[in-house]
Formats: sequence, structure tokens, C-alpha cells
Amino acid sequence: MDQVSMMTTGDGTLTTRPIGPTFGAEVTGMPIHGNVSPEMLTQFIALLHRYRVLVVPEIMLDPADLVAFSARFGPLEIHSRFDNTLPAHREIFCVGNVERDGMKASFNRGVEQWHADSSYRAVPSDASLFYGEIVPPEGAETMFADATAAYRTLDPAMKQRIEGLVAVHSLETLRLWGQRHNPDRKQNIPSQVAAFPPERQPLVRVHPVTGSKSLYVCPAVISHVEGMDQAESEALLETLITHATQPRYVYSHRWRKGDLVMWDNRAVLHTASLFDHTRYQRLMYRTTVAGNAPLLSY
Ligand SMILES: [Fe+2]
Repeated sequence: MDQVSMMTTGDGTLTTRPIGPTFGAEVTGMPIHGNVSPEMLTQFIALLHRYRVLVVPEIMLDPADLVAFSARFGPLEIHSRFDNTLPAHREIFCVGNVERDGMKASFNRGVEQWHADSSYRAVPSDASLFYGEIVPPEGAETMFADATAAYRTLDPAMKQRIEGLVAVHSLETLRLWGQRHNPDRKQNIPSQVAAFPPERQPLVRVHPVTGSKSLYVCPAVISHVEGMDQAESEALLETLITHATQPRYVYSHRWRKGDLVMWDNRAVLHTASLFDHTRYQRLMYRTTVAGNAPLLSY
């Protein structure tokens, strides 16, 4: 990876420091709270495409700031789990174990579940932004896997085998997974599941801007790979996710209050990790840039 680099525009200087083994960068100097020049925004988006995960450290945002900054990249999704959105800003999906002011964060006590956000939508999200509002002193890291580098290093026979394969992503499959791992958690109601019928997605994605291929493997969301029986399908997904999540392709983000992390859902996978929810509070705000956002998908 490159070393520290700086880019200056009319409204400031972006400083970039690579952080992951093959991807990821910390970015400082981005005017998150106020106006952003088109030039600065273009530079930031170029960094997102290049590094796939951007960490903006300790900037302290309120929900309105987060929504305003996120919306610069394109229309925002409203999460399918509406109960877990923030009443004053429905674009914000709340994650953690906090309940207050009519908001109940989505709490998951499950095991690792690698995915890209909203893969069950016909047009999945381009990018997500995740903000640390209340951060426990230990645990709760967010882990990212470089699905682009992981694809690049597959052996040629595997690349050939998976080329053109289609996986079916289903909110119902995710609901059943959640039920097995979180028996006490409220699951999606049938109308939510009906609103998102199963969607066919390529197992290998091509990024619309960089042209890079990446592995689009979300084991808890994929019901099956088309043309395979269940056993073959599960074995293939297991092989691919095991490859993609080797330590050399993973960056684990240890949160500080006020950190903002933005990632490109078309190039990386991510998962939560556990924390001691009996001792600590956690509250994260997520916004999700809808698919085919003009600035991100030019
Ligand atoms: Fe996610």
C-alpha cells in the first residue's frame, strides 16, 4: 500500500493514510459538517473507489449532519427494519443495545455474518456510512473483507467455475438465519419479507467505476446458487467466504466515539463482532446510499 498522501482543493486538504493490508484508508480534512465543494467531494469519492473503506476519525456528528453528508452521495435507503430507524431521521438505521426516545436499536447477538448491505434489494446499496455514537471500550469491532483482492487471488480454475454464476439473495433466508441465532429477537414481519422478494445477484460483481471484479458472497442471505443443489451450493459459498475472510484480506475497525466509516458495498464485505452487552452500551448510526447513485456509479 502507498504511504501518506495529501490532496489540496479550494476548501482544504485531504490527508490519506492507508490502514488495511490490501485496502482501507484513514482520511482527515474532509469538511463533513458544512459545505463541500464539488471538487472536494470528487476527491473523496475517488478515494472511496480506490481504498474501498474510508475511516474519518473522531468527527462528532449529530444525526442531521450525518444524513446531510450521506445524502451528498445520492438518495438514501430507508431500512427494511423500520422499527430500528431513528424517528426524527428515518434514513438512519440504529444498531446496538440502546432504546431511547422512541428508538430501539437493532441488536444482534449472533455469530459472524459476512455480507454487503441490502443485497436482498433488486438494486443493492452502493455504499454505507456507519457512525459511532456510543462505543463500548472493548469489542464490537466492525470487520471488513477485501472482496476485490480476494477475487483477484482465486486460482484460475475457481475463477472459471464461478464465472457467470447467480446467487439468490432472500430476506426470508436472512430472517430464518436470524431466528436460529437470535431466538429472542423480533424478526422481520411477513409484509416486510413480501416487500422484498428473492433477488438474483451475480456471485462475481464487476464494479461500475473501477471495473474490478469482487466476490459477492453473503452466506446468511443467499438461499442457493442457481443450478446447484443445496449441499453443493453451501459448500461453494463456504469455500469462497473462507478464502475471502483470511486475515490478509481483513481490516478490523476498533471504534472510537465519533468515528465515521464509509465503505463501498460493491467491493467489500463486512460483519459485526460481539461485545459484552451486559456491561456496555453501544449505539451506531448507519445511513445507506441507494444503488446506482449518480456520483458513486458514474
Ligand atoms: Fe451491514
